[in-house]
Amino acid sequence: MNFYIMTLFPEMVMGGLNNSIIKRAMEKNLITIEAVNIRDYTLDKHGKVDDYPFGGGAGMLMQAQPVYDCYKAIADKCETDKPRVLYLSPQGKTFTQQMASKLSKEESLILLCGHYEGIDQRVLDRMEVEEVSIGDYVLTGGELPAMVMVDTIARLVPGVLNNDDSAVDESFSEGLLEYPQYTRPENWDGELVPEVLLSGHHKNIETWRKEKALENTKNKRPDLYEEYVLTHPAQPKKKHKS
Ligand code: ADE
Repeated sequence: MNFYIMTLFPEMVMGGLNNSIIKRAMEKNLITIEAVNIRDYTLDKHGKVDDYPFGGGAGMLMQAQPVYDCYKAIADKCETDKPRVLYLSPQGKTFTQQMASKLSKEESLILLCGHYEGIDQRVLDRMEVEEVSIGDYVLTGGELPAMVMVDTIARLVPGVLNNDDSAVDESFSEGLLEYPQYTRPENWDGELVPEVLLSGHHKNIETWRKEKALENTKNKRPDLYEEYVLTHPAQPKKKHKS
């Protein structure tokens, strides 16, 4: 899968992503990430990419020309016919695990990071962008949201996580938060690991984990729990002590 990030701060984006699991995924050629500097495409001889908004108002806007030429250069070299352009903006649809899962099936994605007070609407319309927000708060630019999205999507690309199962059995994957986990030692400072996990009885372990995931979700995210019980009416009866 190929990610193209249109930004005024390519070093910031690559510095944030070229680490750990995502770095390994790039080295294994499972994904490519290219941060493309929008400023490289301006026709202004001083390298300017922004200007005042018509009609007045606070701040500066990114101009259409450098953004569109940058997009065209990416679209021309990209194998996908018409790659989707995700524009990071607090006005967008809220990014979720479900959205990440769908996006991880795309061959290429372009992420457009805005700066200043926004981008000239004409170029957003021309590129037919899809606006995406990472939450109801305002950041200074789209770079951090783009990094959040690339990290979330890339780890769902087959082979990126060492054990493919680890993206299946995790929080949100089924609409529930995850169950609690324990590692050695069995007795840590008098605190014991739940007995069922030491039993080797896979069915009982699975049932216990499901119960704990439900309990965890009910306590921490009642909104998700309500949604889950509405869509999954029959829940297993509680059989095991915790
Ligand atoms: N740019 C500024 N704030 C943002 C947000 N919350 N999500 C996505 N892009 C943004």
